[in-house]
Amino acid sequence: MTALDQFPTWKALERQAVALAGFSLRQAFATDPGRADRFALDAAGLYLDYAKNPIDDDTLGLLLDFARARDLEGWRDRMFAGQPINSTEGRAVLHIALRNRSNRPISVEGQDVMPAINAVLAKMKGFVTQIRSGAWTGFDGRPITDVVNIGIGGSDLGPVMVTEALKPYADGRPRVHFVSNVDGTHIAETVKRLDPATSLFVIASKTFTTQETLANAYSARDWFLAKAPDRNAVAKHFVALSTNTKAVAEFGIDPANMFEFWDWVGGRYSLWSAIGLTIALAVGFERFEALLAGAHAMDEHFRTAPLAANMPAVLGLVGLWNANFMGADAHAVLPYDQYLHRLPAYLQQLDMESNGKGTTRDGGKTSWQTGPILFGEPGTNGQHAFYQLIHQGTRPISCDFICPALSHNPLGEHHLMLLANALAQPEALMRGKTLAEAEAELKPAEAALAPHKVFPGNRPTNTILMKRLEPETLGALIALYEHKVFVQGVLWGINSFDQWGVELGKQLAKPILAELKAGQSGRGHDSSTTRLMERLLAWRSRG
Ligand code: F6P
Repeated sequence: MTALDQFPTWKALERQAVALAGFSLRQAFATDPGRADRFALDAAGLYLDYAKNPIDDDTLGLLLDFARARDLEGWRDRMFAGQPINSTEGRAVLHIALRNRSNRPISVEGQDVMPAINAVLAKMKGFVTQIRSGAWTGFDGRPITDVVNIGIGGSDLGPVMVTEALKPYADGRPRVHFVSNVDGTHIAETVKRLDPATSLFVIASKTFTTQETLANAYSARDWFLAKAPDRNAVAKHFVALSTNTKAVAEFGIDPANMFEFWDWVGGRYSLWSAIGLTIALAVGFERFEALLAGAHAMDEHFRTAPLAANMPAVLGLVGLWNANFMGADAHAVLPYDQYLHRLPAYLQQLDMESNGKGTTRDGGKTSWQTGPILFGEPGTNGQHAFYQLIHQGTRPISCDFICPALSHNPLGEHHLMLLANALAQPEALMRGKTLAEAEAELKPAEAALAPHKVFPGNRPTNTILMKRLEPETLGALIALYEHKVFVQGVLWGINSFDQWGVELGKQLAKPILAELKAGQSGRGHDSSTTRLMERLLAWRSRG
């Protein structure tokens, strides 16, 4: 593809970055009383304030010109129309169909996918009702008390994040647990306190070939069979969420106990599909449907709102401005809600597996930065850990602050304190503190401290507010980030829906596993890997 710096609209952005070299957010707010109103958007129950980014009206106009030059609306429409925009895998990208509550027909290769989606939802609903009501019983006739979701990546992070976020809606009937890591500790610690007769294992894997998930699934089955009366009991205690019926049957799960999804659902976009079964088991099917409805509301906004008023488009464009023109290589997601504590981990996969790429859609090399390094922690914990670097470090880092107005746990002044912090941090990052201000706060004897108390300010932040963290607002929030990632992938000219970068490590692990099993390092490794393997083998042989 044509390099981005050959686009006149990109060149205009480069000139704008030079023109804004001395831009001061503090001054912009002081001189422009309408700034906060102009740089804010409402959609699907979310309020986005992006006024604390180093942009002015011209910048936004130029970013929108660039989006048009990159045919953002065309790509969006092709995604919604079920066209195979995941070019390297020849697949449509239709997580939006999974939550298409309007039931508007959406076709893949001429076939409406909505009937199949609705059929799986109906099957999930029936199953969830049976488990939650106690009608589904285990091998000794008792109801299921504990569900263990075994999956990794998109088959884990989305369900874990949502289940944690919706904890106030979970009644513990059943309790849910998640096992992802191939480290035996994860499954061992999880099943330790469980009773096989009242446990249900949900094996979640799009491909049903993922090494970690299969290893955990087989260990779970061994643990179960050690106590179960016979192999027939597996049918009552193991279900699968997958696209691969053959592999599910080979594992020993009756395909009748499989909840299907399709290859046009990317792993990291799959929590809306059968992969969401554990969410529905934890909080009830109606809440799962409300989650879908919230996402659908954001989808409709993204699909129809003009670019300048389009929340995912604007969030993506401002992010691109910070990443490509303001030097922000890292992006922090800072939820001021304890229930969102797994959101950063979830977004790491969503964003970094989607846009951590240096190859353009047509196989060329990007000469521009793409996806940022994403990290985060719930507020206020992050404040006592890494915010120092965000405030005074040498690298600019952009941040999203996420904050509900109301808490599910209105305990004394806790929530007001949380809100005060959520407001103070972006204000501090924007405003900074000058040397003169620092000096004015110090006694003459402390003057030498003044340079250490200077904050450069001008640090880019967004703040996303919602009334309360509920299934609908959570659905909208996740969809907002999904579409932001999509927007940025289009702008950067990369395919956000493949993940070839995870393959090499998997490939190299195979011979190493065989060598570790044989107790001897093989040929062909670098000397460092060989030495490390020898040391591990030596310690293991003496262990
Ligand atoms: O990390 C690579 C990956 O393919 C992810 O994209 C995916 O979410 C995860 O592995 C799990 O894959 P599966 O659901 O097929 O087990």
